[in-house]
Amino acid sequence: MTEGPENRSGGASMPPAEPQSVATPLTSAAIFLTFTIDAGGEDTVRALLPDVAGLRRAVAFRRPETAPEVVIGIGADAWPRLFAADPPPELHPFVELDGGRHRAPSTPGDLLFHIQAESPGACFALADQIMGGLRGAVSPVDEVHGFQYFDRRNLLGFVDGTENPEGVEAADAAYIDADDPFAAGSYAIVQKYHHDMDGWNAVSVEEQQRVVGRTKLDDIELGDDQPANSHVALTDIADDDGNDLSIYRANMPFGAPTEDLHGTYFIGYAKRADTLERMLRNMFLGDPPGNYDRLLDFSTPQTGNLYFVPSQSFLGDLPAAPVAGGAAAEDTGDAPAPDTDGSLGIGSLK
Ligand code: HEM
Repeated sequence: MTEGPENRSGGASMPPAEPQSVATPLTSAAIFLTFTIDAGGEDTVRALLPDVAGLRRAVAFRRPETAPEVVIGIGADAWPRLFAADPPPELHPFVELDGGRHRAPSTPGDLLFHIQAESPGACFALADQIMGGLRGAVSPVDEVHGFQYFDRRNLLGFVDGTENPEGVEAADAAYIDADDPFAAGSYAIVQKYHHDMDGWNAVSVEEQQRVVGRTKLDDIELGDDQPANSHVALTDIADDDGNDLSIYRANMPFGAPTEDLHGTYFIGYAKRADTLERMLRNMFLGDPPGNYDRLLDFSTPQTGNLYFVPSQSFLGDLPAAPVAGGAAAEDTGDAPAPDTDGSLGIGSLK
C-alpha cells in the first residue's frame, strides 16, 4: 500500500483534514448529479475538483440565506484514472444484490455531486456552474431534483430521517477517523427508488406501519410488535459487541406527477462502506436469508452506486495524476498548460 493522500508530506505534521459538508442538516431542496468520465476527460475533472469550493462560495455569497453545500463522490472505476495513489480500502464497484424477490442493481457512476440548499434556485445555480466546468469531459447518467415534502415525510407519507444521528454522533458515523490516511472522508451509497403508489395505497395504514416499523401520523417506533421484516428492524444494526452501527442519511423525495412518478433518492454516508452494505444485504437478501425488507414490495431501486467522498483538504490539494506506464505525474496541482496568447485564460485580448 502506498502512502495515503493525507500523509503525502512524508511525516511532517499537517493540519487535520476538513470533511466535506456531509453531516449537515437536511435542506428544502437538493440536486443529485451522476456522471461518467469520458475518455480523455480526466484532466478537466481534475482541474474542476479543487475549484468547486470557489464556485460554491460564489453562489453562497449572493444568496447567503440559502447558501448551497455540495458533496463530491468518486467511484471505483474513476479513481485510478484520476489519481496515482492507492484508492481507499473499501472503494469498489457497487455490489449488485439479488434476493430472488428483489434486486439492487449496480449502475454506472464515476462522479456524484450532492448539492443541497434551502432554495431550488441556489441548487440550480451551483449545478449549472459545476456543469459548465465539466462540459465535454463527462456524460450525464442521472439528474434528480429532490424536494422536502410536508413534515419531512417521504412520498409514502412517513417521516424520513428521524433516527439520523446528530452533532458529534453524526460526525462519528459519517467521517473516517483522524488517524487514518483517508481521514475525514466518507463512503456514500446512493439508490434512486421508484414507489408503487397504487400498491401502497391499497394497503391499510396499520399494515403500512408494520412495513416501515413506525407509526404514520406521529412517527413513533413500534414497540414489542415490531415485525422482523420491517424496514426499521432490518436497518437498525449493531456490531458483534452490541454497539449500534450508524449511518447518516439525506434522503429526498422526487417525482413527476404527469408521469405518475413518485420516488425517494436514498443517500447514506458512513465511515465504513461495510456498514451501508450490511444494511443493504439485510434489506435485499434478508436477515435471516429470505426475511427481506417489505418496503421493497413497494419501492424498486433504479440505480446503485458506491462512492468515496474525500475530505475537503484532499480536494484542495489533489494527489498526483497517473501517467501512462503507471508512474505518478509530478504533484504540481495538475495545472493546465499555460496560455500562450497572453490572455490569462480569460479569453482573447485581440
Ligand atoms: C425507498 C427507500 C427508502 C425509504 C423510503 C426509507 C425510509 C425510511 C423511513 C421512513 C425510516 C424511519 C424514520 C427514520 O428514522 O428515518 C427509515 C429508517 C432508516 N433507514 Fe431507510 N429508507 C429507504 C432506504 C434505505 C436504505 C437503502 C438504507 C440503508 C442502506 C436505509 C437505512 C435506514 C436506517 C439506518 C434507518 C434508521 C433505523 C433505526 O435505527 O431506527 N434506508 N428509512
